[in-house]
Amino acid sequence: MNTMTGPDFGARTAAILEHLGETGQLKRLQMIEGPMGPSITLRGSGEVACFCSNNYLGLANDPEVVEAGIEGLRRYGAGTASVRFICGTFDCHERLEARIAEFYGMEASYSFTSCWNANEAVFPTLCDPGDLILSDELNHASIIDGVRLAAVIKKGLHKGVYRHSDLDDLRAKLQAARANPEVTGQIWVITDGVFSMEGDIADLPGIRALCSEFDALLVVDDSHGTGVMGETGRGTHEHWGMAGSELDLVTGTLGKALGGGAGGYMVGSKAMVDLMIQRGRPTLFSNALPATIACSADKAIELLMGDPGRVARLRSNTEQARNGIRAVGFEVLESTTAICPIIVHDTARAIAMSQRLLELGVFVIGFGYPVVPEGEARLRVQISAAHEETHLAALTEQLAVIREEFS
Ligand SMILES: Cc1ncc(COP(=O)(O)O)c(C=O)c1O
Repeated sequence: MNTMTGPDFGARTAAILEHLGETGQLKRLQMIEGPMGPSITLRGSGEVACFCSNNYLGLANDPEVVEAGIEGLRRYGAGTASVRFICGTFDCHERLEARIAEFYGMEASYSFTSCWNANEAVFPTLCDPGDLILSDELNHASIIDGVRLAAVIKKGLHKGVYRHSDLDDLRAKLQAARANPEVTGQIWVITDGVFSMEGDIADLPGIRALCSEFDALLVVDDSHGTGVMGETGRGTHEHWGMAGSELDLVTGTLGKALGGGAGGYMVGSKAMVDLMIQRGRPTLFSNALPATIACSADKAIELLMGDPGRVARLRSNTEQARNGIRAVGFEVLESTTAICPIIVHDTARAIAMSQRLLELGVFVIGFGYPVVPEGEARLRVQISAAHEETHLAALTEQLAVIREEFS
């Protein structure tokens, strides 16, 4: 709660922005003057090595992905000017959704304009009064908002939060739910596969076992795991040696590893997708994913399915980067994901370090409150399969410089 808020929008907004400016917390949008890649051109900074995109597989500017998008635009035009159930579904949506279902080995999939949109659609649509949704406390904001929205729309829907990756706490909450006469319906457990700010992974086998024991459905948002985790990039479940069908529902984004344009999806049972088509408010009252993106994302998944070499490259780049970060004396949160958070605690310090890195030609974003909890500000280094030796060397070299300057 911001104590500077008041009744007048203009005055309170000016006070908030002034406070953010004075405390070094103001975010500035960087203008990129060209395609996303391992090096990008930033207005005012020129060419810099980019370590803050989710372009994990380097497909955002892949010639085949770009060409598929152009071809889609030529073939289908800009769009249908309609929501999907009226006359707004192209056959490229059908192809993309079949591809996503095949990629996961699940029955059916449905696409959205973003994964944010998917998460806001899934819970209010599939959950009913009497159900309970249990959510990991570090889940992505779109899950938190989706669950909140579900509880507002469906009066009598219960929601709870379990401590981050704490299976004992999840078990206790499931036990309590089964003893609660108000929880008369389905229990849903939702977790990120890879947690976006920590870079750690959910213990999906452990969560699956609990869900099976307590007859709960397991939903995984694998936006940061897709294309990254597992030998063939299927996601966090593959990392754990699980089949996609061992999860009940997955949500994911097309705006990161899978082409990077935009878009999201749900993938699970045909019944879930059928219900979404009938009842989902974002699907009934909002236009489809643009055809050009449906086509480029479809191509990105096809390329990933045809060549897991990109995933292997990402893994070896990540290992090299993590070793480099440790070698210059920074602590990086441990995991095998492509998200390498360096905790520096103070928000203003994280932003200042990130600005200095940019002056040195390395683009790494500093995250602070409210994106992460107060006192846990960090530099989040993200690795791509497209990074080459020169990029990884620049990262280590310039991190060494700021380590010295900010000590
Ligand atoms: C875990 C997770 N879920 C959902 C989203 C939202 O994805 P999109 O950009 O497709 O809305 C993100 C993006 O940051 C994310 O990290």
